[in-house]
Amino acid sequence: MTPALDPALVDRFKGRDILSTRDFTREEILFVLDAARLFADGGGEEARPLRGKVLATLFFEPSTRTRLSFEAAIKRLGGNTIGFADAGVSSAAKGESLHDTVRVVEGYCDAIVIRHPREGAARLAAEATRLPVVNGGDGSNQHPTQTFIDLYTIREARGRVSGLHIGFLGDLKYGRAAHALITAAAAMGNRLTLVSPVELRLPGSIMEELKEAGVKPVQTSDLEAALGDLDVLYVTRIQQERFHDPLEYERVRNAYRLDRKTLEGAGRKLSILHPLPRVREIDPEVDAMEGALYFRQAHNGVTVRKALLSLLLGVLP
Ligand code: CP
Repeated sequence: MTPALDPALVDRFKGRDILSTRDFTREEILFVLDAARLFADGGGEEARPLRGKVLATLFFEPSTRTRLSFEAAIKRLGGNTIGFADAGVSSAAKGESLHDTVRVVEGYCDAIVIRHPREGAARLAAEATRLPVVNGGDGSNQHPTQTFIDLYTIREARGRVSGLHIGFLGDLKYGRAAHALITAAAAMGNRLTLVSPVELRLPGSIMEELKEAGVKPVQTSDLEAALGDLDVLYVTRIQQERFHDPLEYERVRNAYRLDRKTLEGAGRKLSILHPLPRVREIDPEVDAMEGALYFRQAHNGVTVRKALLSLLLGVLP
């Protein structure tokens, strides 16, 4: 193991659940980013430290990046996976409870990643097992490992994850990746500007939490006015699957589209992130721009998840 990692923090992560960005201190977040650096560019793979370890991926909702990058991460470190990518092929379709599914699966693996449409489902799963549980997204609530990837990508590009002006664009009502990152970015000491249609503003409960922490984000619907002063723009998809009323979705689905023309008003060094998938909120012509980091961000998923799995399983190369 590299001497660069503080053994006390290494200890703190062994067997730990990753359920919400609220559960991590600033020091712990920076520690994960440092640990991840050791796993970049194939780091840690040669020793195959996770051989014999099995990760269960229980995905009750669709995913490309989260599930596949977790699978790639453990396999690249010598481990293996079991799981399902569709609740319809699991016994949940026969009425099995989440609690019982987790109680059974814990006998087959060493750690569990779960994605579920219900807020709080990952915490419920964690209460049902002694194994480490990772929240791969629970409804509109949280997506903490995405946040570690986002911050890792921001640090690669900007050299730091504090003292930045970060804009969040799109669906701030239902977007769990935005919720998780907003909480962490505020705790790390960043300025926040929230750009969304009025109907899709950040939930009052999170605004209240930010206020209590002494953070006062600017809320606006005017992207072009906000752009000029930002270091980072975190774009999110309008989460069609969370809308109860299809007409409400129709009203906001085309609220924003980032293209080269819109970006003329941005600072020259603006970093553009998106947890992906995108639908129409970023024109593909933006992909070739220097600040467009979203594919890099998706690829960083393997690096960061290799680090998290190694820490949770207590086996570092
Ligand atoms: N960013 C993210 O969670 O992507 P998937 O939905 O494809 O996992």
